[in-house]
Amino acid sequence: MIYQPREDSYLLAKHVAKHAKGSVLDMGTGSGIQAIAAAKLRDVKSVLAVDVQKSVVEHCRKTIISRKINFRRSNLFENVAGKFDTIIFNPPYLPEDVALKDITVEGGKKGYEMLERFFNDVNEHLKPEGIILVLFSSLTNKKKVHEFIEDNLLEFIELDKEKLFMEELYVYLVKKSSVLKDLEKKGLRNLRRFTKGHRGIILTGMLGRKKIAVKMQRKDIDAKGTVDREAKVLKLLNKHKIGPRILFSGKDMFAYEFVGGVFIPEFLEEASRKDMQKVLKDVFMQCHRLDLLGINKEEMHHPYKHIVVTEGRKAVLLDFERAKKTAKPHNVTQFVQYVTSARFGSLTKGKLRIDIKRLRQFAGEYKREISSKNLMNITGSFS
Ligand SMILES: C[S@@+](CC[C@H](N)C(=O)[O-])C[C@H]1O[C@@H](n2cnc3c(N)ncnc32)[C@H](O)[C@@H]1O
Repeated sequence: MIYQPREDSYLLAKHVAKHAKGSVLDMGTGSGIQAIAAAKLRDVKSVLAVDVQKSVVEHCRKTIISRKINFRRSNLFENVAGKFDTIIFNPPYLPEDVALKDITVEGGKKGYEMLERFFNDVNEHLKPEGIILVLFSSLTNKKKVHEFIEDNLLEFIELDKEKLFMEELYVYLVKKSSVLKDLEKKGLRNLRRFTKGHRGIILTGMLGRKKIAVKMQRKDIDAKGTVDREAKVLKLLNKHKIGPRILFSGKDMFAYEFVGGVFIPEFLEEASRKDMQKVLKDVFMQCHRLDLLGINKEEMHHPYKHIVVTEGRKAVLLDFERAKKTAKPHNVTQFVQYVTSARFGSLTKGKLRIDIKRLRQFAGEYKREISSKNLMNITGSFS
């Protein structure tokens, strides 16, 4: 089925004629209208026009004669190699309609799924100074589209909009953000937003074959310098085998090895008694080292997202955003609070025998004197 050019095609082609440059990728070429608009420009050296439909590619090859344009079948970037100066996409953007079943206009159940897949992969095919010219509609869910753009560390400007009978069309020019360009220069690939914290944003990506995470200061809040402070603390703690391994840091950001595994509650629900003992001891030892260093991590009494247990049953403490120097360290005693809580008991389902009264008494002694002897009393009190 060939998509005959409509209002959306002409609106996008108008901007292709203004902005396309260098090597061009026309995604979902259909009738080839965008490829032709690009190929007419002197600044455009070559155009690779792809479509998921074989019949479309065959038709274009027969009817469009241009030295600059090559046609190829590809499901999004599947058969596309290399990086481009310009990527054009007039995607199927309407929510699925059972009666319609039209691949040229339906972008998935909600309509935006095609754009989500496109933005998740586009960075690996766009040069640092490259541009994306993309069109979508008010029926696509603008908020979601913005999220896909931002999650992939891209930024946009709205070039145009046009009201039609039932919808409004938008043309965006999307570029790599300076943060993304900087990180890519350091060799990081496949970067995307993982989660947003109170003060920082965490991205994941690849450095060679290693999965990494990058923490960056949020710019939309008042707190300043918290990520830099955390990088400093983590560098010190790494020397004591605490926290994820930091790889490099810069202003308001640091990169570290991604820690794969499950958070502590999930681990406790499934683990054997032996594994629980091993992991709890490991956490207590790390808390003790923090106490000796005079650093409070905070949140060890409800460490739900603060401890990851790896496949090799190693506990890694995460998130040192609130960590600070203190004369009264309380990491071990806070973790005792967790281990003696009802919540902990419901997760471990009686698999661990803990003499709560004695444990609390040992915690009191440890509080008075932070020593390895008092620590051993604590770790020895669950069997
Ligand atoms: C709305 S039409 C746009 C056609 C043309 N570029 C234009 O502006 O008129 C969307 C095109 O994307 C193609 N398409 C749909 N899913 C695709 C996918 N996964 N990979 C590549 N092309 C796809 C369709 O076959 C269709 O030709």
